[in-house]
Amino acid sequence: SIPVITIDGPTASGKGTIASLVAQRLGWHTLDSGALYRLTALSCLRRGVDVQDEAQVQHAAQNLNVRFDYPHIYMDGDDVSDAIRQEEVGNLASQVAALPLVREALLQRQRDFRVAPGLVGDGRDMGTVVFPDAPLKIFLLADAEVRAQRRCKQLSEKGISANLTSLLADLRARDERDRSRTHAPLVPAQGAHIVDSSQLSIQEVVNKVLDLWSG
Ligand code: CDP
Repeated sequence: SIPVITIDGPTASGKGTIASLVAQRLGWHTLDSGALYRLTALSCLRRGVDVQDEAQVQHAAQNLNVRFDYPHIYMDGDDVSDAIRQEEVGNLASQVAALPLVREALLQRQRDFRVAPGLVGDGRDMGTVVFPDAPLKIFLLADAEVRAQRRCKQLSEKGISANLTSLLADLRARDERDRSRTHAPLVPAQGAHIVDSSQLSIQEVVNKVLDLWSG
């Protein structure tokens, strides 16, 4: 079957960056699964859907009209690549991600990204739920302070001003929601390799994943 490398981990652990660099080196496709939750959140925001209303949010998830053209993402014909990265959308995404019917609605859409020659998928449940048969699973960690600093830098590079203290608080709240939800909580998949990136550069993490892949 078509190979998949799954990279799961908490918010701002660097999954997206690592996934796209690993995919580039292997010539594989990527799945940014968090983007689907962010798109669902943005769609709710734009349509005035209350994110507590599970049936309505499920409907939004089922009917996402999106096109991925990396690094661009379009929704209803609009380039929403920047809009979905806003902290407000990220916070809403973490709330809609706790709804079982929403996760269910996005499941097949995620599996459809598994196209030859291979896929690197990043998220929270890539190894546990979406691609349980993946031949290589990574669980990427970093200390909360390190993650808050990385997120702060990433936002400021985009010209978005951010406050470190409130980022750290948001990040801890999101960690807590991701870990404690009953449906697909954030836990390492069976057989996952745990990589703590707190003291590692991006290149070191990428090389570690590629080493694990080539055995
Ligand atoms: O890293 P960050 O949390 O900022 O963003 P993300 O990876 O784009 O994911 C956005 C939100 O979607 C997260 O807060 C997760 O709660 C949720 N998510 C999920 O539940 N399952 C996934 N496979 C990916 C993301």
